[in-house]
Amino acid sequence: MYQAPRGTSDILPEEQAYRLYIEQKAADIARLYGYKRIDTPVFEDTELFLRGVGEATDIVQKEVYTFEDRGGNKLTLRPEGTAPVCRAYLEHGMQNLSQPVKLFYIEANYRYERPQAGRYREFRQFGYEAIGDSDPALDAEVIDMAWRFFVSMGINNLHLIINSIGCPNCRPQYLEKLKAYYTQGSQTLCNDCKTRLEKNPLRLLDCKNETCRLLASTAPRSYEHLCPECAEHYVNLKKFLSVLGLPYEVDHCLVRGLDYYTRTVFEIQPEIEGAQSTIGGGGRYDGLIEELGGKPTPALGFATGIERIAANLKRQNLPVPGLPGAVVLVAYLGEAAREAAVKLCGELRKSGCAALQASGGKSLKAQLRQANSAGVRYTVIIGDDEIKAGTVQLREMTTSEQKNVTPQELKEILLGK
Ligand code: HAM
Repeated sequence: MYQAPRGTSDILPEEQAYRLYIEQKAADIARLYGYKRIDTPVFEDTELFLRGVGEATDIVQKEVYTFEDRGGNKLTLRPEGTAPVCRAYLEHGMQNLSQPVKLFYIEANYRYERPQAGRYREFRQFGYEAIGDSDPALDAEVIDMAWRFFVSMGINNLHLIINSIGCPNCRPQYLEKLKAYYTQGSQTLCNDCKTRLEKNPLRLLDCKNETCRLLASTAPRSYEHLCPECAEHYVNLKKFLSVLGLPYEVDHCLVRGLDYYTRTVFEIQPEIEGAQSTIGGGGRYDGLIEELGGKPTPALGFATGIERIAANLKRQNLPVPGLPGAVVLVAYLGEAAREAAVKLCGELRKSGCAALQASGGKSLKAQLRQANSAGVRYTVIIGDDEIKAGTVQLREMTTSEQKNVTPQELKEILLGK
């Protein structure tokens, strides 16, 4: 027996209601804040992610699905949406549009991770990017949109965590301080952090290992080592968050796992313990467009995992609207009625009424069972008598009430016409 590959899953019909609901809410919130949809290819040149996401990141080092196609091109399945959107921004000359350009996406991403609850190798993200504006009021707006999105679905007990990790002007000096601090305590660091100390010292701050966490709690704080421009941006960000009434918490250990971030980083976390609790995260990436060959262009964005949202909705027992199914099943008795049933089903569907045809040659009891398990409101029953009279029996499934109706009356009931 074949199985879905590890870390992937089939989204069965009963799960689709969650996905559809979340993705509809995502499109609604995007419209509310003026974002337009973009879809990018599921694979890109490998180089885009090496440069965009960063060679030292876990994603590029350990998690990308990279392959060579038959033409010898090195390609990578999209592990995240930001770098592809920036590539599209440049490729389609969007720097000539009025800035910021606001784009959103709902897409599958691929990361070769160790699968566990909330962490998959194929997962879906709703993400959005605002490109071409450095105003801290835009940072606050992007964060507000993320917050409102979760609130609109009733997800509560969320924490909004922010930090500022500076820019290429102030970060090198900060990293020196951080390295010096950690070098003193390096004997107690976990093996991963010993490597990170050389390659990516910022990531020492969000290591989940107990002793590393202890060291991180008293480590130098990036927001205390910002250059004047970054410091002003950070002060204004906090001011605008307060203006919007967002209950933010500052955490100097929040650094995020992708290399492109500058200044603002933020995450939204529900109140549960565990490494996979982050429901969404984002931040500013003022250097990314330039890194990909464009002019210096400030930008920021956010992304959240659809599966993690669904898990939160379920944990909180928040109902999602069911998907509309068929309204009526057409049952029949006898060969002549079978033809009439096929015809009626066709007519109903043509006029927009979702109709099911009873499966062939079964007793009326079995056909009614089929109607019950399909959850239809009505069953139409056609037999020889009905064909002679030019009418049908209409049965309301919840009450089992049954009456003879003409084709015109049937239309009025089923279609409101
Ligand atoms: P990220 O933190 O890597 O950021 O992912 C954002 C969200 O995607 C996570 O908070 C989580 O909900 C979901 N997610 C990530 N990996 C997995 C996984 N393996 N399984 C299930 N869900 C997952 C980014 O991807 C950035 N591109 C966000 C961003 C947009 N920054 C600026 N603009």
